[in-house]
Amino acid sequence: MKKIILDLDTGIDDALALAYVLGQEAELIGVTTTFGNVLVERATENTLDLLDLFGNETIPVFEGAAHPWGATKYRLSDLVLRVHGQNGLGNVALPRSKRKKELQTGSQFLIEAAKQYGQDLILVATGPMTNLAEAIQLEKAAIETIGRIVIMGGALTVPGNSTKFAEANIYNDPLAANYVLESGIPVTIVGLDVTLKTLISGAPIRAWKQSETFAGKVMAQMAEYYYTNEYENQDIGGAMHDPLAAAIALDPALATHLLPINLTVETAGVSAGRMIGTLPGLLETEKNAQVCLDIDSDTFISRFVQTVDQ
Ligand code: BDR
Ligand code: CA
Repeated sequence: MKKIILDLDTGIDDALALAYVLGQEAELIGVTTTFGNVLVERATENTLDLLDLFGNETIPVFEGAAHPWGATKYRLSDLVLRVHGQNGLGNVALPRSKRKKELQTGSQFLIEAAKQYGQDLILVATGPMTNLAEAIQLEKAAIETIGRIVIMGGALTVPGNSTKFAEANIYNDPLAANYVLESGIPVTIVGLDVTLKTLISGAPIRAWKQSETFAGKVMAQMAEYYYTNEYENQDIGGAMHDPLAAAIALDPALATHLLPINLTVETAGVSAGRMIGTLPGLLETEKNAQVCLDIDSDTFISRFVQTVDQ
């Protein structure tokens, strides 16, 4: 069975990605956490609580980065608070887990898992790339052996969602994102180019509300909060950013158009966090990134709704 690690800044769509992976044919060997939608301590708590809620009390959680590279503190923006709520989970209160985070840090676990599983390991990063960057900085040779790395982040062909130029995960740590993308390690980028094709709204959420289980009801409440707030009460739905990245990691065939390209990230100025194709990279034959430009969204949405229904 495939081994997978999720690297989460555990907000609502990260929680939905977690639920999705737990319902798929894959072994989630651990979760690493980072700041982003919430502070890192909250990301760790949310992850432990969610794993308990879904009946997976043995999956270890490794706390990672607390702030972006080049900063000593991370502050939640008004936008983040609006989209994910004060607690990151749409203000839905979960029973507190009695479990504790592991002693190892997020980046240490990524390195250890890479050494143990190499090609058999899939890593899905759905928050700022700080943990991954740290792991590459510490032991690039180990991280290079990971079978597949899929990143939810960036917006190559569409505007950003944090600023006109930048998608939130990249915007929250442009230096780390740049480090990862310029490291030459192959990555698949699932950005707003495709995640905006995965808007879900009323119907599936109403169905989850009928769920007999507490976990089902919690999912419905979180998803409802998210779809009402991501685009400020415009009834257009909420984008399944992180679940799509996880789904493509487990089934690459969902990505129907992949653009091979070398990428870099603007690290300062008004366009900080902008992901761009490097000019020399356009002429080089070796490309380390593949950016998803189209997906089979019908298959993804129905698979997602079905998996979470269970
Ligand atoms: C990304 O930013 C976060 O708010 C979401 O969880 C997702 O990972 C979307 O831009
Ligand atoms: Ca996320």
